[in-house]
Amino acid sequence: MTSPRNIRISDDSLALALGADALAKAFAEAGCVVERTSSWGMHWLEPLVEVDGIGYGPATLGDVAAILDGSSALNIGPVAEHPFIKPQQRLTFARAGKTRPLSLPDYEASGGWAGLRRAQGMSGDQVIEEVTQSGLRGRGGAGFPAGIKWRTVANAQATRKYVVCNADEGDSGTFADRMLMEGDPFQLIEGLAIAAHAVGAQTAYIYTRSEYPHAIAKLRAAIELAADIIAPLHMEVREGAGAYVCGEETALLNSIEGKRGVVRAKPPLPALEGLFGCPTVVNNVLTIAAIPHILSEGGAAEYAALGVDRSLGTKPIQLAGNIKHGGLYETAFGISLHDLVYTIGGGTASGRPVKAVQVGGPLGAYLTPEQFDIPFDYEAYARADALIGHGGVVVWDDTADMGALARFAMEFCAAESCGKCTPCRLGSTRGVELIDALREGRSGVDKVSALPQMHNARKSPRQREEDIALLEDLCETMKFGSLCALGGFAPYPVLSALKHWPEDFS
Ligand code: NAI
Ligand code: SF4
Repeated sequence: MTSPRNIRISDDSLALALGADALAKAFAEAGCVVERTSSWGMHWLEPLVEVDGIGYGPATLGDVAAILDGSSALNIGPVAEHPFIKPQQRLTFARAGKTRPLSLPDYEASGGWAGLRRAQGMSGDQVIEEVTQSGLRGRGGAGFPAGIKWRTVANAQATRKYVVCNADEGDSGTFADRMLMEGDPFQLIEGLAIAAHAVGAQTAYIYTRSEYPHAIAKLRAAIELAADIIAPLHMEVREGAGAYVCGEETALLNSIEGKRGVVRAKPPLPALEGLFGCPTVVNNVLTIAAIPHILSEGGAAEYAALGVDRSLGTKPIQLAGNIKHGGLYETAFGISLHDLVYTIGGGTASGRPVKAVQVGGPLGAYLTPEQFDIPFDYEAYARADALIGHGGVVVWDDTADMGALARFAMEFCAAESCGKCTPCRLGSTRGVELIDALREGRSGVDKVSALPQMHNARKSPRQREEDIALLEDLCETMKFGSLCALGGFAPYPVLSALKHWPEDFS
């Protein structure tokens, strides 16, 4: 009698959406032992079936028999050796594809809890010193040094302190937080426990979006399983109600407190007066998830040796949009968009030429292929008037209408604005109107009267120039006058589209 075959299929929500559950059931009914693991992050191959390390994907129910007898044309060879996986430097996603998300034995066997155990033998100050030495910067987008933020909270005099994980992943084309929470929840829990030990916090919250039900379920189950390991730290998951602005740290804190998600003025910084007025560390999922590795023996030095200039360590980059090989690619800072889009991503899924890439979410600048040599590095992007943000890379082919995409940025800002400050609340709506007027060839904003017939008059070249100048002026006002990044960054996609593709505004 032959022994049953061991099959591994991801239970990440992307794989589930593509039929992974039905596939797992079919293999089980065929007498196989099926393990549900995290995803390797090769999204175009999901659902990916692994048989003794050999991958087959994207698989359907009709492929089960051929996969089992080894004749399937979906064979991609050893998954760990795949050209998308092999060159990656996976530290934060080291377990991706390899372990069962809620298996404590899998986590322990793959180095889990080593960072926490080591941290518990150190003082909070020593832990913070190692995080500082690693060069870790906030992975949510702003890139603020994690060690300095932790030091501020640790030094604050207060009887209660909090650690809050910002898991309100809202940027278009991003999914790394979700993958991490679904695929390796113990790593996030371990990172939070280390942060709480370092700064002297008693409670940790993970704030995530209600649109992530699988992540929420996994996190809650994992917190229960790890309760004894992280005790006496109390940890809870809080669900947001879908507002993009609740990814902004102070709106997020209001939301946890049960208030409307409106941005607070800074100062005071959350590090000094955060949740319920207490000193609070607010860090993104990927920042916290990098911590266990950094605190493991030699981890901080290994981390600091990777990357370029002040952007050290690795960055989980998310390839999405019109791209052939979309997925999660973790590598050291410094990689170019050219390598990401063409060499790794395989160019567009449509096979047409790339027109633009947006990095950093809906508020990131659009970059042209001529700019693809800029290294992935916070400062290099800032110099190019662009953002790395959360590391989302969304690709468009030459059929994209950049004027319409610029309009979307303003429309998105108008829809998601919390309404607290005028440049964002009013500016975004005026921005939509101005772009519409430009694209329709109407006289844009009638500065003297509101008569509809004046509004609809054909635009002269001089009026068009005036309206472009007005749009640029509005963008400057929003950039420098908005209270938070939502209003402050909406101009980036608009100005970049206007600069590189003015013909799309005609
Ligand atoms: P920020 O630059 O104001 O602050 C960065 C962080 O450092 C904050 O946590 C702030 O409290 C902290 N900080 C600043 N000075 C400090 C000090 N002296 N001591 C201790 N802590 C200090 O940036 P902000 O507004 O928090 O975030 C903007 C970023 O958010 C953007 O770069 C954007 O890319 C990103 N973003 C990310 C999204 C996502 O889905 N991950 C969505 C939208 C925006
Ligand atoms: Fe609110 Fe927009 Fe002002 Fe931010 S920029 S505080 S979202 S109104």
